[in-house]
Amino acid sequence: MELNILTLCYLIASVTFILGLKMLSNPLTARKGNLVAAFGMTVAIFATIFLYEDNGEKLHNYVWIFGGLLIGTVAGTLSAKKVKMTAMPEMVSLFNGMGGACAALISAAEFYHIYKLHEAAPETPFAELATVGHYITIVAGAIIGTISYTGSIIAWGKLNGRVKDFSFKGQHIVNMIVLVLVIAASVWAYQSNIGNIFLPFILIGFFAFIYGILFVMPIGGADMPVVISLLNSFTGVAAACGGFLYDNKAMLTGGILVGAAGTLLTILMCKAMNRSLTNVLIGSFGGNKNTAVAGATTPQGNYKEISLADAAMVMGYANKVMIVPGYGLAVAQAQHICHELEKILTEKGVEVNYAIHPVAGRMPGHMNVLLAEADVSYDKLMEMENANDEFKTTDVVLILGANDVVNPAAKNDPASPIYGMPILEVEQAKTVIVNKRSMKPGYAGIENDLFFQPKTSMLFGDAKKVLQDLCAEVKAI
Ligand code: TAP
Repeated sequence: MELNILTLCYLIASVTFILGLKMLSNPLTARKGNLVAAFGMTVAIFATIFLYEDNGEKLHNYVWIFGGLLIGTVAGTLSAKKVKMTAMPEMVSLFNGMGGACAALISAAEFYHIYKLHEAAPETPFAELATVGHYITIVAGAIIGTISYTGSIIAWGKLNGRVKDFSFKGQHIVNMIVLVLVIAASVWAYQSNIGNIFLPFILIGFFAFIYGILFVMPIGGADMPVVISLLNSFTGVAAACGGFLYDNKAMLTGGILVGAAGTLLTILMCKAMNRSLTNVLIGSFGGNKNTAVAGATTPQGNYKEISLADAAMVMGYANKVMIVPGYGLAVAQAQHICHELEKILTEKGVEVNYAIHPVAGRMPGHMNVLLAEADVSYDKLMEMENANDEFKTTDVVLILGANDVVNPAAKNDPASPIYGMPILEVEQAKTVIVNKRSMKPGYAGIENDLFFQPKTSMLFGDAKKVLQDLCAEVKAI
């Protein structure tokens, strides 16, 4: 009877994961989707704690279980409440690393479990105690989980500046050798007697640990969101291995969903940047700005500035204004004041919309989340294709802390590292006003010809301060 209730709980959990994921695809339902999936996870956790039985025996080590739950809940809640929007990829990376470590520990525990059951007969070959399928599941969970753990920790360090990009000649060959050593240790462990199993198993973990570090070290620091998404899919696969080992349906579904979603997201991000995954993994793109593409950061002529009063005048008397938000808007946390400007302009009869580039910012949906936080109506957000049709009839484009996503080099310069990336074609509008703090490049570390075009004017300053002043100026018109 209890087993049936347990299965039912896992089914409920699996359904909530799928529903939650579906709801995450729309900003209007995303928060609810998160809660729905969290509810399902809570059901799965408590059902396992109180209903799961192994050979008729229930779980009993409640102090450890609830101690762990308490520490995890407090640490997770506090850090999630404290984290700044721009530090979200860091946090995702750290949490993903923890998921990878958990999956690896589950495999280690299963390994130990088999050892314990047969330690009285140390001469028994491990291959006799576990089928090839069972063994591959254990070892895959251990290897993928460990790589995901160390890789995510390095990615986290790179995002917060604690770890610098590092590569050396022949690194890819060294990486391949370490990967071969992981596989060799795995074969060795399978062929060892149970009494000699520890050394090869520790070597599997050790080489996987090193591989995770070596794999992420050379990748351009700014490519981390793509790598994190890839590592996220690794964690999903490792967790699914745990689901197989314990015949736990909720864990299996959760793992497969994370694995599939992470893989799809990685592909989508690469596609939106018009780069292959190989290019992301070995391209060292957007990393150290000092080593960014030779010549690409040389100033390309004169740019002109516009005063706050003139910018306010141009926008206040326009029919149609399109706001292009970018990473700088998130850095400045200027989303609320940006919405304020939109309202003031709308009251003056100006039609205001937002053009959203799929990889603006530093994480998928960054701009949508940022603007939703400020209660900007979702109807006002235009996807790139629609926005590009709209620019021809737009009077003023106001670019707020965006750079690469409006760089015409992506269309015009085959030598540019971003060549082929679809961009917001803002230069089709009558006037372009660019707000940023300096002439420094953005994520890709390259010069932007848009800033030097005749219809473009620069409005320098921190986005929040500039928008506050703009609001006051437009009101005064
Ligand atoms: P970026 O090209 O990074 O440009 C952001 C600009 O904002 C910078 O040039 C910076 O110039 C300015 N800025 C920074 N702080 C500011 C502040 N407080 N006030 C005003 N301006 C400020 O951003 P983007 O156009 O959004 O493009 C995103 C880039 O990230 C793309 O290259 C994309 O491929 C990459 N990427 C995105 C993702 C996802 S999933 N979104 C994942 C990986 C990579 P100043 O320093 O002069 O102010």
